[in-house]
Amino acid sequence: MARKKLIKNGVIVTASDRYEADILIEGETISAIGHNLPDGDAEVIDAKGCYVFPGAIDPHTHLDMPFGGTVTKDDFESGTMAAAFGGTTSIIDFCLTEKGKPLKDAIQTWHNKSKDKSVIDYSFHLMIGEINERVLSELPAVIQEEGISSLKVFMAYKNVFQADDETLFRTLIAAKDLGALVMVHAENGDVIDYLTKEALKNGNTDPVYHALTRPPEVEGEATGRAAQLTSLAKSQLYVVHVSCAEAVEKIAEARNKGVDIWGETCPQYLALDQSHLELPDFEGAKYVWSPPLREKWHQEVLWNALKSGQLQTLGSDQCSFDFNGQKSLGKGDFTKIPNGGPMIEDRVSILFSEGVMKGRITINQFVDIVSTRVAKLFGMFPKKGTISVGADADLVLFDPNKERILSAATHHMAVDYNAFEGMKITGEPVSVMVRGEFVVRDRQFVGKAGSGQYIKREKYGTMKKLKQNETQPI
Ligand code: URP
Ligand code: ZN
Ligand code: ZN
Ligand code: ZN
Repeated sequence: MARKKLIKNGVIVTASDRYEADILIEGETISAIGHNLPDGDAEVIDAKGCYVFPGAIDPHTHLDMPFGGTVTKDDFESGTMAAAFGGTTSIIDFCLTEKGKPLKDAIQTWHNKSKDKSVIDYSFHLMIGEINERVLSELPAVIQEEGISSLKVFMAYKNVFQADDETLFRTLIAAKDLGALVMVHAENGDVIDYLTKEALKNGNTDPVYHALTRPPEVEGEATGRAAQLTSLAKSQLYVVHVSCAEAVEKIAEARNKGVDIWGETCPQYLALDQSHLELPDFEGAKYVWSPPLREKWHQEVLWNALKSGQLQTLGSDQCSFDFNGQKSLGKGDFTKIPNGGPMIEDRVSILFSEGVMKGRITINQFVDIVSTRVAKLFGMFPKKGTISVGADADLVLFDPNKERILSAATHHMAVDYNAFEGMKITGEPVSVMVRGEFVVRDRQFVGKAGSGQYIKREKYGTMKKLKQNETQPI
């Protein structure tokens, strides 16, 4: 068994507290938290000047994923290594399914992609592209045996991933009965399909037309539709990558009516805007993902929603494609630019710098948004997502004062550009531990491919049952 470790002199921050104490780690878990814990034979780690956060959890990644005629540049090895450098100790990746094929084959494919590669812990969401007797008969095992308690439905990407409303509605009903959280990519794919064809017909082929053919209304409409269907099914919904005021409005409206609905935004929507798509020499292609970047004023709406709790989590939506060789597939036709960007590494630090340091959210809200709330919604709490006795020792020693500049020259993702190139931020993960073992130590990678473990997650709502006396859902 690994030697005990004692983290001293750090300031522990959780979603609810901030205090100075030592943390004793035995094996993979935290065995004691207190003042002046005796060293015994433990290795002492000095966290002076650092916050100690629970390892961040990224609820939204696409690693080694075929999409847009190519495959994402980052796989489970480079992607999770970059995640670890960014303070993320667990991810939930989207497992794609194919119509007519068993769900279990898709899950096996995703296990094969990740098993010997991931350097941090990982789990999967499962895409639902069709609902029929075969799919319904497979779902109980997916949720109970595989521990995959979240199902993803795409309302966009017509003729690729898009599902119809019947599929979404029946998924919501099944998920309610089985204890899963339904996730939606909420954009109206049919309207986008029409608008993109019109744009091309009129000779509008530049990257900026990606944004102009997916206006905020198509996201607001789909978000509202999904919320209404959730209300009708008396089910539960998580809206991924919320980018605009129109979608926030629909989520807030439904929450106010008591619908069990949650919203995730991403660092790119908080820190970048639509003008990036207008960059000359096809550089706008670096910023092509869906939903698209919005006019700058939407950013403040998203920040306010995180602060007020109308949005609850931050996903990276990591889906990286090289600028050279992959994004370039869409030169002369923006619809052929693979959709997605590289965000897994900088997600946590951007929220800390732009959110906590600029006074937009509190440090406890920051921990909740990048870790605790994700663990609760996706059936991993309290093993993951907090610092408590018995929890996995997934910990981040974070220097809040370090000033640095985000760049492809220093990032650890395999992709050839950084979407936040040149951005000055404050704060840096110094050392990162997964289940008691360092993956990053003093800014150096010390992890190992394949050391990450697959996380079987609990059913949706388990936390709610534990906390019945609380008025707010989890
Ligand atoms: O453009 C994006 N977001 N690519 C990844 C797939 C998705 O829609 O999340
Ligand atoms: Zn003390
Ligand atoms: Zn999406
Ligand atoms: Zn995504």
